[in-house]
Formats: sequence, structure tokens, C-alpha cells
Amino acid sequence: MESLQDLVAEARGCTRCPLHKAATQTVFGEGPADAAIVFVGEQPGDQEDRQGRPFVGPAGRIFDQALAEAGIPRDRVYITNAVKHFKFAPRGKHRLHKRPNAGEIDRCRWWLDRELAMIRPRLTVALGATAARSLAGRPLAIGKTRGRLLDLAPDLPGLVTVHPSSLLRVPDPDAKRLAYAAFVKDLAVAADALTLEG
Ligand code: URA
Repeated sequence: MESLQDLVAEARGCTRCPLHKAATQTVFGEGPADAAIVFVGEQPGDQEDRQGRPFVGPAGRIFDQALAEAGIPRDRVYITNAVKHFKFAPRGKHRLHKRPNAGEIDRCRWWLDRELAMIRPRLTVALGATAARSLAGRPLAIGKTRGRLLDLAPDLPGLVTVHPSSLLRVPDPDAKRLAYAAFVKDLAVAADALTLEG
């Protein structure tokens, strides 16, 4: 029977869309195969592309902090991305993040579907619009849907919240604190749902 390790190995050579050409490596999901919660981000960033692991850069640090505050141990959940290769535009020495398009998201859904089919989580959390678009198969308004339990698709119970990198972009310190608190509150809804279910 296929395991998550088999999927990781297979995804290393993925050429399903052109993003593999410029990226350093495939960044696959990480976490236990029996995780109750799967978190889905957008795509690896610069640090993730170099290290080959999801959410290990600046967005990952704020995500880690929020997970801990919501009482969710990172090593007990599975963390992945809607798109498994870093999409960027070179600017001098830097690589500027570029949003994946609908075609890239749809091509990469092949991997996400297989991760979800193998793990069969009780809850799938979409971090931001790209993950929500991938999981629901259509755009979802994050502001209107965030923080409550819903079916992302038939047989896919989940929750939508903002992407942690959006918190890094809030310039005003008070607004940033509020945005962070709202994010932790959304994550706590996911944690509570699992506790209530036992
Ligand atoms: N942003 C994401 O969506 N995923 C990562 O892995 C890192 C940053």
C-alpha cells in the first residue's frame, strides 16, 4: 500500500506544471499520517524552497506561535501547501513571491487530494485564499467564511482563515495585534472542534 513517504518520493520529480523548472525542489507536506488536522497554505516561500520544508520562514514563525497559543502542537498536525513549488520573479539578488494562478493550483490539487485521501483528517484548515480556492474548487470570500466550521467540499469538513503572512504585512502595531488575535481565535475553533468530538 502507498505511504506518505512514497508520495514524497514521487512528488520530488513532479513536472505537472512549469513551476518545477525554476524552483529548487518540491516542498511536500510534513506531519503524522494519522493527523486529525491538515493545514493547507499557499505555496513554499524562499526559505521553504531552500530548506525543502513547509512553513519554516517568517510566515512559519508567526504560524508556529499562533498554533502554540491555540493549543495545537505542530508535531501532531500535518502541514502542507496547495502548490508544492515556489513561484517567484527574480529581482536582483532576491526572489519575489508570485501568487500561483488557477491552472497551477488545479494541477497541484493532484498531490493535495492524495495527501488528504491518505491522512483522512477530521478537519482541513485553509490558510488564505489560494488554499481555500484549491480545497473548495472555487474562490471563497475569506472575510465572510473565516473562523467557522463548514464543508469545504462534500466530505471535506474544514475551516477557513487568513494566511499567516497577511499578519506580517499589517503596518499598524495595534491592527497587527488584533489581526493576530483573530487568527489565534480561528485556530482555537479548530482545536475546540476536535476536543469536543473527542
Ligand atoms: N507560505 C505558505 O503558504 N507556505 C509555506 O510553506 C510558507 C509560506
